[in-house]
Amino acid sequence: MSDLTEPVDRADLVPPHDLGTGDFSLYPIDHAMVAAALEDRTVRVEWDDGHVSRFHFPWLRDNCPCCVHPYTQEQVFELAAAVHEIRPEDVLVSDVGALEVCWSGDGHASRYHPGWLREHCYSEGSRRERLLAPVLWDASTRARPDGFDWGAVVADEEVELAWLSSIRDTGCAVIHGAPLTDDAVGEIAGRIGVLRETNFGRLFDVRVDTDPVSNSNTGLELPPHTDLPTREYQPGLQLLHCLVNDVAGGLSLLVDGYRVAAELRDRSPRFYELLTTHPWDFANRSRTSDYRWRAPMIGVDSDGNWTGVRVGNWLRGPLDAPFDLVEELYEAYRAFEGLSHQARFQIRFRLEPGDCLIFDNRRLLHGRTSLGPGAGRRHLRGCYMDRDELRSRLNMLERRRRTRKVVAGQGP
Ligand SMILES: [Fe+2]
Ligand SMILES: [Zn+2]
Repeated sequence: MSDLTEPVDRADLVPPHDLGTGDFSLYPIDHAMVAAALEDRTVRVEWDDGHVSRFHFPWLRDNCPCCVHPYTQEQVFELAAAVHEIRPEDVLVSDVGALEVCWSGDGHASRYHPGWLREHCYSEGSRRERLLAPVLWDASTRARPDGFDWGAVVADEEVELAWLSSIRDTGCAVIHGAPLTDDAVGEIAGRIGVLRETNFGRLFDVRVDTDPVSNSNTGLELPPHTDLPTREYQPGLQLLHCLVNDVAGGLSLLVDGYRVAAELRDRSPRFYELLTTHPWDFANRSRTSDYRWRAPMIGVDSDGNWTGVRVGNWLRGPLDAPFDLVEELYEAYRAFEGLSHQARFQIRFRLEPGDCLIFDNRRLLHGRTSLGPGAGRRHLRGCYMDRDELRSRLNMLERRRRTRKVVAGQGP
């Protein structure tokens, strides 16, 4: 991983940028606070663009930027240990534009950086703006993953940011021009974060084996699936680096699992409900390991947003479900699988030597066409990572972009 830590010392910045924020980021001040008022249970803040934020007392006390360890920036104040009622005595917008809160009881004073405060406003509108909605696609809106040159990614942080944002938003991207070496896939993954080792090793090979441990090591067509649905936590990212490809077939295939889930939700609400609530049994059939897991095929969070899909026809175990639901569950499963097999949801493209495909293994289904007859060879080398590695790297790149903006705004 290349080092992205910042050399900027907050003390060298003009107020209120010199204020602590309880983290290592700098925050541009795009809007000034114009007024602060104490309400019954909240502090009301008005901004110069007319936006209004309201912060509950425990939220503000919990996020006091000085109540963190000066080196780690981790909280040292515990709300649960507070002996006084959590209530401000007084609030005001200071001369330099920070929110100042003086707490009753212990008299502690908190000063909130306006850029930080605006960024963390939890009004409905602000929360909606921050939501990272996936950009859904199918064959009518996308022909192949966005492409990025490896040399440009390494040389330019903005290209790296575009590459990683594309993986986050569309679920996939292809690197072109990666070195044709055995560890190149490990180097590409290592630029993002820490690799996830599995029973297939740190890196694994996808090529025809005489003694295959998985269908991927045969010449068979691989229908759309996610890898390792048999594991409690399916890897969030998969990288596949092409070293050799001169077979007649072997096209790579991707399906946006969220797009298919949306289609199922619109067409068959009952099937959607079944697949989001009832667990299916997944099981591997390896000679040397015995992973099994039960989980719904479509994962959703408490707001109804998708968290992932879990699909693998040849990695399912015998279904263990309430007797009266079995037939309906199979119908729902067939409907979901059937949609993912339709050409209108699939993109197919050829990986050339030096290409490295990266995709979200909990959102996208992947597969390949059969390798076809003839003497050609196809060799991909792959590895897994988790989604939070991608998010951390993106956060660091975005942190640096914000720092450049703040420093540039300080003048000579
Ligand atoms: Fe796979
Ligand atoms: Zn404090």
